[in-house]
Amino acid sequence: MPHSAFTIGKKYLAYRYRALNGKGHGMHSPFVYDFIRQVLNDRQHDPAYDRVEALRKKLRSDHTEIEVLDFGAGSTKSGGNRRKISAIARNAAKPAKYGQLLMRIAKYYQPQIILELGTSLGLSTSYLALGNPAARILTLEGAPSIAAKAASNFRELGLKNIQQVTGNFDDTLKDALSDLNKVDLAFIDGNHQLAPTLQYFNAILSRTHNDSILVFDDIHWSDEMEQAWEQIKKHPATRTSIDLFFVGIVFFRKEFHEVQHFEVKY
Ligand SMILES: C[S@@+](CC[C@H](N)C(=O)[O-])C[C@H]1O[C@@H](n2cnc3c(N)ncnc32)[C@H](O)[C@@H]1O
Repeated sequence: MPHSAFTIGKKYLAYRYRALNGKGHGMHSPFVYDFIRQVLNDRQHDPAYDRVEALRKKLRSDHTEIEVLDFGAGSTKSGGNRRKISAIARNAAKPAKYGQLLMRIAKYYQPQIILELGTSLGLSTSYLALGNPAARILTLEGAPSIAAKAASNFRELGLKNIQQVTGNFDDTLKDALSDLNKVDLAFIDGNHQLAPTLQYFNAILSRTHNDSILVFDDIHWSDEMEQAWEQIKKHPATRTSIDLFFVGIVFFRKEFHEVQHFEVKY
């Protein structure tokens, strides 16, 4: 069960109160300080942002209905239902601010292999692809009609470094991982429930290395996601985490002698 808007609002205010300011003041980890200054708060406008946002605008006014197979949290059935592209673009896609952060992460750290769970219409995928056009991106989506729309969006943006896999993560993730010799960056944005999120985390860990970065979406969306986030933070492989409230970022770098968890304003 997702938290109510009121609960999310209260939790968000508490996070804003506790979180370190976005300038990195008082930050003792040089790596995280650099992340905050160079990536999180890079306010320069990248023209690539406009390309994805123009696509988002178009999708938000596209009222074509498609038959959608339902997956993940919030849905207990796997039967079909009809949804408007405009509604999917409005409700499922991560807002520009977070897509652009993903793009800056991909641009700054130059991951070669990027894995995404939850393509939807491909807006976050497009940001990742534009962040590092030299990366190989594998993006997983359960609903075939949505994946097909994402494919046409990638063509429209001229993105050629994205490979799509369609099917339930339960069936596709294992094969996807065996096809990758490593995962440098992953964005986990689908099926926001405790057990599946931990399952995806553990599966992806088999391909992570010292410099890998995992980004989890909506870590405060429900009790289950908050529990999943706590367990991910406690995992022995996790050396540093950054909680930005609407996303959580995990680093594994062994040079971080001390395990540290930060909440940073974004
Ligand atoms: C929140 S949306 C992804 C949004 C996208 N990352 C963005 O920001 O533009 C989550 C997507 O994951 C898919 N999904 C959820 N659970 C899934 C599962 N178990 N297997 C496959 N796809 C799943 C849904 O169909 C949905 O399209």
